[in-house]
Amino acid sequence: MRAFGLIIALSLYVKVLLAIAVSKQVKLGNVSYYVAGTPELTIHEKLVSELVGSLEDSFLFPLTVINHSGSLDYSVLESVSANFSSSDDVFSAFFLETVLVQSSNVEVASLSNSSISTLGVSNVISLEGNALPNGPYFGSFLEGKLNVYRAYRLYADHYAAFQSSIVPSDEDANDFMVLPAGVAVAHAQTIAVPSKLYFTVTKEQPLAGYRVAVKDLYDIAGIKTSGASRNYYDLYDEANVTCPSIQRVLDMGAVVVGKLKLTQFANGETPTADYVDYHAPFNPRGDGYQSPSSSSCGSGAAEAAYPWLDFTIGSDTGCSVRCPAGAQGLYGLRPTFDAISLEGVIPMSDIMDTAGYFARTPELFQVFGEAWYGANENISTSYTSFPSTVYTFDIEEVPGVHIESRAGPEARAMFSEFVGNVVSFINGTNETLSVYSKFQADTGRNLTEVANNTWSGLAGYYQYVNIWEKFSKDYQMAFDGDTPFLDPIPKYRWDWAYFNFTETRYLEARANKELFDEWWNTNVTTPDNETCSNTLYMFLSNVGSTNYRNIYQSAPSGGRLSGFSDNMVSSFARTPEAIVPLGEIAYNSTITLTQKYLPVTAAIGAAPGCDFMVLDLIAKLGEAGILKEVATGQRLFLPN
Ligand SMILES: *[C@@H]1O[C@H](CO)[C@@H](O)[C@H](O)[C@H]1NC(C)=O
Ligand SMILES: *[C@@H]1O[C@H](CO)[C@@H](O)[C@H](O)[C@H]1NC(C)=O
Ligand SMILES: *[C@@H]1O[C@H](CO)[C@@H](O)[C@H](O)[C@H]1NC(C)=O
Ligand SMILES: *[C@@H]1O[C@H](CO)[C@@H](O)[C@H](O)[C@H]1NC(C)=O
Ligand SMILES: *[C@@H]1O[C@H](CO)[C@@H](O)[C@H](O)[C@H]1NC(C)=O
Ligand SMILES: *[C@@H]1O[C@H](CO)[C@@H](O)[C@H](O)[C@H]1NC(C)=O
Ligand SMILES: *[C@@H]1O[C@H](CO)[C@@H](O)[C@H](O)[C@H]1NC(C)=O
Ligand SMILES: *[C@@H]1O[C@H](CO)[C@@H](O)[C@H](O)[C@H]1NC(C)=O
Ligand SMILES: *[C@@H]1O[C@H](CO)[C@@H](O)[C@H](O)[C@H]1NC(C)=O
Ligand SMILES: *[C@@H]1O[C@H](CO)[C@@H](O)[C@H](O)[C@H]1NC(C)=O
Ligand SMILES: *[C@@H]1O[C@H](CO)[C@@H](O)[C@H](O)[C@H]1NC(C)=O
Ligand SMILES: *[C@@H]1O[C@H](CO)[C@@H](O)[C@H](O)[C@H]1NC(C)=O
Repeated sequence: MRAFGLIIALSLYVKVLLAIAVSKQVKLGNVSYYVAGTPELTIHEKLVSELVGSLEDSFLFPLTVINHSGSLDYSVLESVSANFSSSDDVFSAFFLETVLVQSSNVEVASLSNSSISTLGVSNVISLEGNALPNGPYFGSFLEGKLNVYRAYRLYADHYAAFQSSIVPSDEDANDFMVLPAGVAVAHAQTIAVPSKLYFTVTKEQPLAGYRVAVKDLYDIAGIKTSGASRNYYDLYDEANVTCPSIQRVLDMGAVVVGKLKLTQFANGETPTADYVDYHAPFNPRGDGYQSPSSSSCGSGAAEAAYPWLDFTIGSDTGCSVRCPAGAQGLYGLRPTFDAISLEGVIPMSDIMDTAGYFARTPELFQVFGEAWYGANENISTSYTSFPSTVYTFDIEEVPGVHIESRAGPEARAMFSEFVGNVVSFINGTNETLSVYSKFQADTGRNLTEVANNTWSGLAGYYQYVNIWEKFSKDYQMAFDGDTPFLDPIPKYRWDWAYFNFTETRYLEARANKELFDEWWNTNVTTPDNETCSNTLYMFLSNVGSTNYRNIYQSAPSGGRLSGFSDNMVSSFARTPEAIVPLGEIAYNSTITLTQKYLPVTAAIGAAPGCDFMVLDLIAKLGEAGILKEVATGQRLFLPN
């Protein structure tokens, strides 16, 4: 009896040599599943013992694999079901229809048919050995052979954060393919996640089973990289190799489930007018109509929206991880420059690009960073205590420049309390750093002039030369001389940098960046044998103010490109900088006409190479209750 296995979609396609591959989607109760194309196990019926019921020819049926020896009774199965349900979102009681016990000595004597049927069990079969991890699967029994396939739950991308949905390829174990399945959702993706029960975290694979989605700038074998440009997506083929940084995530055991939206080629875009090629992802915080911020916007929106996703990967050149982490109230890291290879990643600036990520708990924030970057020549693991000095910026020095100068009293109080908590946790002191006057005193140069258009000139010029020149030529070759489309922001920035900023000033900008870098790393945060970094620096990075996505913006102009800001320290000085959520500010939404809340976050930085020290400090601040896990959805912290 196959009461629960309802097959709703069955598509066939013909492979070379007329072999037939089948992509299968199944609904159990009200939940949809994708059935992996390649079986995890194929076994002849002679090797299977039928303990209750019997295997009958069936194209597809739900199946639960368990590991048990000795007597199998109602209470064991009930406990397994409860354990699986509480630790996995893919398993449901429907999978108990057939139970496969991996054991040579299992007894079912006390298993009366009536007691099993109350759990929905129709068949119990067993086989010797431990071929499969426990958990929910789909079985197929045809021509005397039992095939067991992995089960993936399908989720709708309601917040439109994904660019593409990916699963392991049927044809090549090292490749991926676009998910051949879907659930109801308007103009967005369906994402497939495998059961968590298939994976066990080990020392070698600290990310085993964690679900990760990746900004669509990183190459993943078998999948196209779009850079959020339709023409770029159309022009180029699927990547042939997975880039080293994403390969590292896979090697650490993580499950990559999709590629995330971004602003075009990671430039700063504001919803909704700037997003011409693709629609902006939805920030789930507050009223749901706030900007997700720029660049790694899909990474921020997805991490804040979906409890079924553990980590998202972004990239940070100017603020591309840190700003979305602020807007969505998440943990986010811009690592030390050169923490990990950026080969196979669409670039913005060869001297400022970094591979960063987002998390929701202080503990997992540390786990992911340590696993992903690993100890390497650019990241230190040797420190025996935390720094005892915290620098905060003198925000009165140059009016309006520092983010904190735009904060209300509540956000300032949250930041001040947090600095106090950190200082007392590390048994240290806080000091004010007057960035502009110290820079002037130490270098004899004016920071306003040195910063000026340095960042935007570096990024815009580099992208013009390293993306546009090739992309436009390749596109013209492929499409009869046509020039490809660019969104207004990258178009403006690239033309401005190449034609108005020019190569001469680009070279000056490189020197200005180096000047700041050398100054900061000699005279502000310096390496220390005991504490990794002589000091920490902190600033208020998101003030909890509104940034509605339905506001008309002015056209791009030079005014949007210049100036020094708190966020430039790490871009210029290569320092690791982490964003941590502190609290929420209430506001009356002009959309919902009710009171909603937006995130307040702080940045914590240290000398280059001190990523692990900073992550360790954040994890310990979590243990001490000073930092907390954030929830998905409208609120960071659920009211209790
Ligand atoms: C799906 O069914 C379960 C019970 O089987 C129920 O708790 C849940 O609310 C349903 N979800 C939806 C979206 O209908
Ligand atoms: C269920 O989980 C509990 C706690 O982790 C464990 O003690 C118990 O053995 C598990 N039961 C089964 C049947 O796996
Ligand atoms: C199943 O049991 C065997 C030994 O009895 C053990 O080595 C294996 O780790 C178990 N597997 C799972 C998934 O519990
Ligand atoms: C992948 O390799 C094939 C064959 O060498 C080539 O035609 C294709 O352009 C490559 N794809 C990319 C994105 O480089
Ligand atoms: C730092 O310390 C001073 C006292 O030394 C204090 O007035 C100030 O509020 C503290 N916090 C911040 C964020 O600067
Ligand atoms: C701060 O001092 C207390 C008391 O001396 C000590 O227990 C604690 O470990 C110190 N904290 C750090 C982070 O060093
Ligand atoms: C630095 O330059 C800016 C812009 O030219 C100017 O307004 C400011 O007064 C200068 N600062 C100092 C300390 O000279
Ligand atoms: C910044 O650069 C522009 C040219 O792009 C120049 O006109 C302006 O004076 C510079 N500002 C400062 C403060 O140096
Ligand atoms: C760039 O320079 C051209 C003249 O060469 C001028 O027409 C244009 O307005 C300038 N653009 C910007 C953004 O400054
Ligand atoms: C650091 O400051 C000292 C003292 O002001 C100055 O002599 C030195 O040039 C500065 N170093 C750098 C790299 O800016
Ligand atoms: C730090 O350690 C290195 C080697 O372990 C040593 O050469 C250096 O002098 C030490 N520096 C300080 C400031 O103690
Ligand atoms: C929202 O509006 C109500 C009614 O006007 C007012 O009492 C409340 O203070 C407002 N809340 C905020 C956060 O502005």
